[in-house]
Amino acid sequence: MSAGGSLVVRHARLATMGAPQSASGETPLGVVEDGALVAIEGRIAWLGPDAELPLGVAAGAPVLDVGGRLVTPGLVDCHTHLCFDGERSGEFEQRAAGATYLELAAAGGGILSTVRATRAASDARLAELLERRLQRLASWGVTTCEVKSGYELTEVGERRLLGVIGRAGVRAEVQVRGTLLALHALPPEFADDRAGWVRAAAGLARARLAPMCDAFVERGAFTADEARAVFAAAREAGSATCLHADQLSAGGGAGLAAELGCRSAAHLERVDAAGIEALAKSGTVAVLLPTATWFIRERTYAPGRALMLANATIALATNANPGTAMTENVGLALTLAVLECGLTPAQALWAFTRGGAAALGLADRGRLAVGLRADLACFDAEGAAHLAWHAATPHLAWSALAGVLRATPGPSAACHS
Ligand code: NIG
Repeated sequence: MSAGGSLVVRHARLATMGAPQSASGETPLGVVEDGALVAIEGRIAWLGPDAELPLGVAAGAPVLDVGGRLVTPGLVDCHTHLCFDGERSGEFEQRAAGATYLELAAAGGGILSTVRATRAASDARLAELLERRLQRLASWGVTTCEVKSGYELTEVGERRLLGVIGRAGVRAEVQVRGTLLALHALPPEFADDRAGWVRAAAGLARARLAPMCDAFVERGAFTADEARAVFAAAREAGSATCLHADQLSAGGGAGLAAELGCRSAAHLERVDAAGIEALAKSGTVAVLLPTATWFIRERTYAPGRALMLANATIALATNANPGTAMTENVGLALTLAVLECGLTPAQALWAFTRGGAAALGLADRGRLAVGLRADLACFDAEGAAHLAWHAATPHLAWSALAGVLRATPGPSAACHS
């Protein structure tokens, strides 16, 4: 059985993401102008100038002449919390009226409100909701998506969520990677027994239910030592780790992520100079989630430019979740990364492709190169700047997953519309 599809793309601005990340503001996109790309059985078999396209390759495969449009690696959304049920628009209204995220959480809302609704939902309902959200991400060109657990917070429930997440990629046509996030909030049943929940979370980590294990280290959530205990179990089991760090308060989270050898540290709104340096030295990927900063009206954005100047590897993600970022809008994340975190549009796109793949430890995607997965996104735009400038607007013409063309997401806009 073939491992994927075959296709030929012609006359594209191929953004290979082949160049290393640049802090100087130069384009890191590694563009091949008037390029062509050949995918055979799910992998990239050739790419280069269209004029040099070898004759007769991939005979019989669909040929897509994209007329100068931008073709990038499929986008990699490396940080989401998409597997949940329940409504939090009431909290949104309260925040609009001045309440803060932490105040709402302390009053029993926040993550625990989603936990109550998610526990009550059937597997089928969770799967359907997740699939719809993944399809929305796919309509922006996302071909790989990480999805965290963390909304059941019982041993059985966290396993159930990771099961739903694990099965989700099949119908949604997005590659899905699960992450265990048992240390998301303290379950009410353990209100007087924090250590008990940390032990249970370590047990789940030891069972290696997902390739990665995450923890929310924050005032009102979990401490560095609690994360240490669970990450030790994850490492024993061979899972990579990642951390929610320095989101709402400066708690030394970035330094902790670096010290514990985490693959990535996400949020970083309040990271300090020492944390930036620690991330750059350790190679821990800095994941920017500016949509969350905007959505909860925190106004302190992660210092993307400073992280780049320090030579940290940057990823950008939607953080789609019901509390701090109820949107799958990739375009919004790109624009905020430019306007508020100080990335160039090209750096933002790099961060949503190659950076996202680095955050998930996936070396077979996030770039266009011979031998890698033929996950592709074609945009009705000539460059990255257009995607960030025409803000929060879908520009996808088509995408391909392992060389298999997906249906276009809607009426395709003319270039530059
Ligand atoms: O990354 N900070 C922790 N987790 C999510 C929010 C989850 C929620 O509020 O439901 C975040 O922002």
